[in-house]
Amino acid sequence: MRTLVYLIGCGSRPTTDLPRFAGQLRSAGWDPFIVPTPVGRRFLNASQAEEKSGNTVYWDFDPDAPNELTQCKARAAVIAPATFNTINKLAAGIADTLALALVHDVLGDGLPVIAVPWTQASLARHPAYKNATARLRGWGVRLLPADQSELFPWAAVGTQLEQVRGAA
Ligand SMILES: Cc1cc2nc3c(=O)[nH]c(=O)nc-3n(C[C@H](O)[C@H](O)[C@H](O)COP(=O)(O)O)c2cc1C
Repeated sequence: MRTLVYLIGCGSRPTTDLPRFAGQLRSAGWDPFIVPTPVGRRFLNASQAEEKSGNTVYWDFDPDAPNELTQCKARAAVIAPATFNTINKLAAGIADTLALALVHDVLGDGLPVIAVPWTQASLARHPAYKNATARLRGWGVRLLPADQSELFPWAAVGTQLEQVRGAA
């Protein structure tokens, strides 16, 4: 039985570290699929991501490509880092990227979504963002605290995933 998890990386620097994190999860028994947003893809070394995760990197809707993601259900989704843009779109129910569509799928199935909002302080104070984060919390999305002046909290994401697996 595969313990599949979607690792969504948005258009922000920490997405560069997703392959290393995926490698750690794989060693811990997860089957991670790295799914960047279209902008997130520009921060990702795709061949490194595939090598570390052991899975193809999908990032767009392609009717001609056979896509394993449509054939198996994930246990959870992680959005790390989660940009201002993706947080707001997620809360609005928008699914115009493969990454967002997969997260909505997980939410619709009532499965855990873990997100690390990662944006500059001015945008974090924006009313749309405040509304979006409150709405996502209301839906049960686990928003992990993070501060751009500090290191990205990969260890906290790993801990959350272990809790998810332990609760299953
Ligand atoms: C070098 C660079 C770094 C960025 N870092 C962030 C960031 O940390 N947080 C954020 O919300 N947006 C950041 N952005 C802006 C996003 O990439 C932009 O809003 C994009 O539309 C996000 O798309 P996505 O949410 O689909 O990934 C950054 C852009 C660039 C070029």
